Amino acid sequence: MDLFEHQAKELFARYGVPVPEGAVAATPEEARAIAAELAGPVVVKAQVKTGGRGKAGGIKPAPGPAAAEDAARAILGMDIKGHLTRRVLVEVANVPAEEYYAAFLVDRAAGSFLAMCSASGGMEIEELAVTDPGALVKVPIDPLRGVDHETATFIVTEAGLPADVAGEAADILVGLWKVMAGEDAVLVEVNPLARTADGRVLALDGKVTLDENADYRHERPADDTVGGDDLESRAKAKGLNYVKLDGSVGVIGNGAGLVMSTLDVVAQAGAKPANFLDIGGGASAQVMADGLGVILSDPDVKSVLVNVFGGITACDAVADGIVAALATLGEQGATHPIVVRLDGNNAEAGRRILDQAAHPAVRQVPTMDGAAEEAARLANAAA
Ligand SMILES: Nc1ncnc2c1ncn2[C@@H]1O[C@H](COP(=O)(O)OP(=O)(O)OP(=O)(O)O)[C@@H](O)[C@H]1O
Ligand SMILES: [Mg+2]
Repeated sequence: MDLFEHQAKELFARYGVPVPEGAVAATPEEARAIAAELAGPVVVKAQVKTGGRGKAGGIKPAPGPAAAEDAARAILGMDIKGHLTRRVLVEVANVPAEEYYAAFLVDRAAGSFLAMCSASGGMEIEELAVTDPGALVKVPIDPLRGVDHETATFIVTEAGLPADVAGEAADILVGLWKVMAGEDAVLVEVNPLARTADGRVLALDGKVTLDENADYRHERPADDTVGGDDLESRAKAKGLNYVKLDGSVGVIGNGAGLVMSTLDVVAQAGAKPANFLDIGGGASAQVMADGLGVILSDPDVKSVLVNVFGGITACDAVADGIVAALATLGEQGATHPIVVRLDGNNAEAGRRILDQAAHPAVRQVPTMDGAAEEAARLANAAA
């Protein structure tokens, strides 16, 4: 799970990493009040889980409370790369004299951790890695040894941070590693790690990705997924394994592998899938109804392909699920044709159930390729 900048900074503060003083606002009035409290110039920052906020106009300096209110009014509601801005962080302006970069991440290829550091922060680090790869230092981290002051000093020195900030920057790296290890994160990134005109070093930005597999041993911030794609948020709230894609054929299948190959056959049939949705083993009527509900409320969807291979869950149970789901969705629910392919365990019984239900939106095609072609044809005809 990705954290918002303000959540990342709250973690940083808890582990002793210096961050600008600030608070989160959901309204322009709240932003004004926070700015008044902080006294002095502030920066108002869109809280969305994506980068490039600055370039999108989502970060605005404000000399005082009135300007902070105006800035918040401009930023709240802003769409940044498909993320709706519902909150802003109002924090004390700490104008950077120099901007560095520091991160810890899981190095999957090496099966270990990696520290990355650069004296050229602020800009997009992916860009730096291409234009000036030497400026980005990578140091493997032994997970058992972790990052002590000595290791941290080595990292910042290798990265070419000025000697007079090396000690302070090393302290910060030690703190960031504590966040990484203590919170079971897979990424902790600070860009920029800034040096101010008066010589302090602090984290002006923060990105943290937590390992959800370790959720059970932490008190995690509530994942309200504010700012995510609305369909994905709804699907997530219902516990669905759903990923929005940019095509017009809604896809439902049981098993990630089958759904992946369904995306392929839809593409092969000349249409683009609108989503990935794996309803998994159980495939209860409720899960089917939730899945169909999310997919049919996607305005890009023109047809739906339900591709099920009955295994432990027999096709008649899935067919019952589809019939119940359509009943739950009601008249206005099933607005687009739904192509169903049932095969495998009890396929005959499943097909019979759907035939008997004779829902006007449902048509059955016995093969996967045939069903994909039909769904693609229907979607393209409706486009
Ligand atoms: N509290 C602050 N005081 C002064 N300047 C700030 C503050 N926070 C951010 N900035 C400035 O805004 C820039 C962008 O901020 P930040 O890195 O948090 O956002 P971002 O989403 O990474 O944006 P971008 O991708 O455009 O850099 C920083 O590099 C810094 O120059
Ligand atoms: Mg940044």
